[in-house]
Formats: sequence, C-alpha cells, structure tokens
Amino acid sequence: MSTNDIDLEKRRFLTQTTMALGAVGAGFAAAPFISYMKPGAGAMEAAAPIDVDISKLEPGQLIRVEWRGQPVWVLNRTEEMLASLEKIEPRLRDPNSDKSVQPPYCKNRYRSIKPEVFVAVGICTHLGCSPTYRPEVAPPDLGKDWLGGFFCPCHGSGFDLAGRVFKKVPAPKNLVVPPYRYVTDTHIIVGEDQQQEAA
Ligand code: FES
Repeated sequence: MSTNDIDLEKRRFLTQTTMALGAVGAGFAAAPFISYMKPGAGAMEAAAPIDVDISKLEPGQLIRVEWRGQPVWVLNRTEEMLASLEKIEPRLRDPNSDKSVQPPYCKNRYRSIKPEVFVAVGICTHLGCSPTYRPEVAPPDLGKDWLGGFFCPCHGSGFDLAGRVFKKVPAPKNLVVPPYRYVTDTHIIVGEDQQQEAA
C-alpha cells in the first residue's frame, strides 16, 4: 500500500466517523426538543375537562374548582338572586353579553344552561385578579344599590350574579363562562360542551 493509499483510507475513515458522530449528535439534540414540545402528563391533566359534583351545593352557596389553572366558580342561585338579574340590567355595560365570552347556549339573561346554576371563570376581565363573591344586598361598603354579585377590589369592578359587568368600572367585559355540560342533574363537566357531546 502506498502512502497515498494510506492517506485516502485515513480520510475515508475520518469522514465516516464524523458523519456517524453528527447523526448521534443530531439525535441527542432532537430528543430534548421533542420532549419539550410534547405536553407532560401534568399539563394534559390540567387542560382536561373536570367533573364537578353539585349535589351538595346549597342555595346561595358558591364552590371553587380549578380548570386549566384558572379558578372556576359554580354558584347555586336562589330565586331572589335570579329576580335581581332583570332589575339590574339598566346599570350593566353588556347586559345581553353581546361583547362578552360565553358558549352560545349560555348567551341568555342567566348566562347559564339552567337558571339556578351559574358557572364562570373567576377572573376579572380588567387585569386578571379574582373577584370576591358578595351575595349580600346593600352591604355598607358596596352601597344600597348593590343586589349581590362579585366585586373585584383591585380597581373596583363590580359584576352582577350572572357575572355581567357594571357600567363605569375598569373591567370591559362580563366574566367568561366556560364550556360545560350536564351529565346528570347533579353532575357537570367543565371544559366539555354540548356540541362536543353531540359530535
Ligand atoms: S383586576 Fe379587577 S378591577 Fe382591575
């Protein structure tokens, strides 16, 4: 074998080794990217619909659950609470929820499937604080016109008991109503709606 032949062999060996290492390197580089792109089990769970048992929800009582990392309220409204919703409409910014977010089957005065059960994302549409549930009528700090609702102390936004925002407050829209559906009268699924069920 001549010196030229040896050099040629050496070069071929080095080229093949470099290509092989390059392929392995590409494999190592690709793997973390793939696992980064793929949602982990925790994220998948957090985005999944959630079951809510409302069988023990007393009239006037509100429970908080978490869906997609957000607080979701489920409120059992009394007859008096439901009656307040019509009375308060002249003081609301978007009483018919034309500019607010809710599934089409909740675009009504109650913003719900069944009038008595209200489901909403408990996040103020101003800057994202979570309002407090204030069901009392005319409490001293909120004034004699307050008929019950949700109050965001961050910058003073008020919402009625259907999550509809008052005029002249910083929040621009009504509280968001998430998709949900009834499995039975006492069991709802938040994050899954009627269209999905029918599909
Ligand atoms: S975040 Fe609710 S009023 Fe500003």
